[in-house]
Amino acid sequence: MAMDQRTLTPDAWRVGVLFSRTGCLSAIEETQFRGTMTAIDQINRAGGVNGRELLPVIHDPASDVGLFRAYAYSLMVEEGVQTIFGCYSSSSRKAILPLIERLNGLLWYPTLYEGFEYSPNVIYTGSSPNQNSVALFNYLTRRFGKRIYFIGSDYIYPHETNRIMRMLLTRHGGEVAGEAYVSLNCRRQDILPIMRHIRDTSPSFIFSTVVGEATTFLYQAFSDAGLDARTMPIASLTTTEAEIQAMGLDVAEGHFTAGPYFKGMGGTCEETFVEEYVRCFGEEDSINMCAEAAYFQVHLLAKALAVTNSLDTDLLRPVVLGSSMEAPQGRISVNPTSNHANLWSRVGRANQAGGFDIVHQSHSEVDADPFLICPFSRETDEEAA
Ligand code: ACM
Repeated sequence: MAMDQRTLTPDAWRVGVLFSRTGCLSAIEETQFRGTMTAIDQINRAGGVNGRELLPVIHDPASDVGLFRAYAYSLMVEEGVQTIFGCYSSSSRKAILPLIERLNGLLWYPTLYEGFEYSPNVIYTGSSPNQNSVALFNYLTRRFGKRIYFIGSDYIYPHETNRIMRMLLTRHGGEVAGEAYVSLNCRRQDILPIMRHIRDTSPSFIFSTVVGEATTFLYQAFSDAGLDARTMPIASLTTTEAEIQAMGLDVAEGHFTAGPYFKGMGGTCEETFVEEYVRCFGEEDSINMCAEAAYFQVHLLAKALAVTNSLDTDLLRPVVLGSSMEAPQGRISVNPTSNHANLWSRVGRANQAGGFDIVHQSHSEVDADPFLICPFSRETDEEAA
């Protein structure tokens, strides 16, 4: 990491940073770590917050839910940290949530997830299902049809997200072609019988909630089976530029992902983000929606901290809720009724260069509706088949 090694002031603001830099989720969590550190470096180079630098207290939970819990405990109980930037998988978030709530910390969670959660101790800056699943469903069913094959990793995010997709499918008269789950640490050969079943059942498209290293196995198995993304693509909410770098650009081309941000979207804020990330880490190919959320949420914290001059959760929360900023994806805000960010809704198609061509986007940021109270608003339902 080519960041300035600066002498931190003794009264620096201590913030926890908890992303896996090793293990099966490290490809994506490393980019969230980088997004976080990029923002911290940018803020510190500009003089910190109220003259005090942000000091990241960093742990690597190694894609292990037990280590997330252990490090969250040590951050809050032994290392004097109240605010933590961290977690990718919903299982790691669920694992540390009781602790964060009991100790009245503040978790900044920069990952799309399955929704149906609210904690006064979490600021959710990734997409909820009404901001990504609905747009993906509408776009894909309209173009490819309504027989969906579900394949996911075996934990809460895929099971719950597939439940929501099935609800959308039922509402629009579609059909489940098949459903299969693989373990988070699955091997390449575990995907092969599922891919054969997919080929035999011939769905309109595959909806993948596979995460981590297994994503590579899935897309490569699809390509090796001779299947064609032009006629039966894989649609996902988690296959980002980072996973594409890991799997190979050729096997990703033509598949779809929904999210609020894709690298190279343009705009001053996006260009600054990419420049700063490259300045810190010397590469930009892995930049993706999860890194972007990790980046802008540090700026949201810094903005609130400048007002409260305190990291006390009870002082920060009311200032963060309702706040807004220009993020790389466009203007975003924190919904004061749900603690979830109002974000843009976009669908991208993977291109030859390892990026995404945006094929659909919302007219403005979409209000977070994590409990799907109004899932079929005009904005999100406008393209329904
Ligand atoms: C996830 O587990 N929220 C991707």
